[in-house]
Amino acid sequence: MSDFHRSVLLKESIDYLNVRPNELYVDATLGGGGHTKEILNNGGRVIGIDVDLDAIDHIRDSLRSDHLIVEQDNFRNIDKILSKHGITEISGIIFDLGVSSKQLDTAGRGFSFSKSGPLDMRMGGDLKVTAADLVNGLTETELYELFFRSGEERYARRIARVIVRSRQNEKIEKTDQLAKIIEASIGRSASKIHPATKVFMALRMAVNSELDNLKESLEKSTNFLKIEGRLVVISFHSLEDRIVKNFVRNTSELVQINKKPIIPTEEEIKENPRSRSAKLRVAEKIA
Ligand SMILES: C[S@@+](CC[C@H](N)C(=O)[O-])C[C@H]1O[C@@H](n2cnc3c(N)ncnc32)[C@H](O)[C@@H]1O
Repeated sequence: MSDFHRSVLLKESIDYLNVRPNELYVDATLGGGGHTKEILNNGGRVIGIDVDLDAIDHIRDSLRSDHLIVEQDNFRNIDKILSKHGITEISGIIFDLGVSSKQLDTAGRGFSFSKSGPLDMRMGGDLKVTAADLVNGLTETELYELFFRSGEERYARRIARVIVRSRQNEKIEKTDQLAKIIEASIGRSASKIHPATKVFMALRMAVNSELDNLKESLEKSTNFLKIEGRLVVISFHSLEDRIVKNFVRNTSELVQINKKPIIPTEEEIKENPRSRSAKLRVAEKIA
């Protein structure tokens, strides 16, 4: 197991990817390389993509193989990345969405409400707008809509109001500063989940255009799949899961392999609580 990231639904996702020796697969979200390592162990070749330079450096240091090509890029550019290498067909692609443990645990990246750091949340260096820009720059209505729609936060209106009031006194620039403002506005519930969880997720998704990236990349990557090639997606958010489900349903070239999404076993959730919201969907190219 890598210290960088503990892979979620590893066995299930690799089994469903149906890795065949010498065939080419794309790991669109390299992270700590857990899924890529398994594809290589099963004899596959991999084009591995991650937008985050830390992940790319980690893979270059820890995983050398003649069967692996590493690209630092956004997976929404998958068409350009594959064309650059003269690739017209792939036998499968895996997306393991969201952030890695390393990203969450590095205070300076600003992804975590439990670590004091700048409210940044950019996965890749070329993005200009940070979470602090959104928190201090959006109107109260825009904040409400973001927290309600992307975060599915039931107290979105109250949180947006308190943020706007707080920032009139002092700019909100730190993760723990925002977490305390949210906690003070809605309190701690009996649930184990921190009250800032959904707001932080909504901000991260907006900073990195996560839903748009996913939609664009699903379409582009399906064009490259061989017949019988598999599309395997692990998502951690109901909006992501809905995008994948609807995409497969509305794409006549794909057939859904598992009717219901696969979720981690209780044992996996106990060992790795971050896996608790994971959902795995699999589709196969048929035409
Ligand atoms: C959950 S981790 C992947 C973990 C990996 N499967 C493993 O087993 O170690 C998600 C990774 O996807 C990357 N990522 C998220 N959105 C991306 C995008 N649009 N393009 C490329 N990489 C992205 C993140 O930087 C992060 O490293």
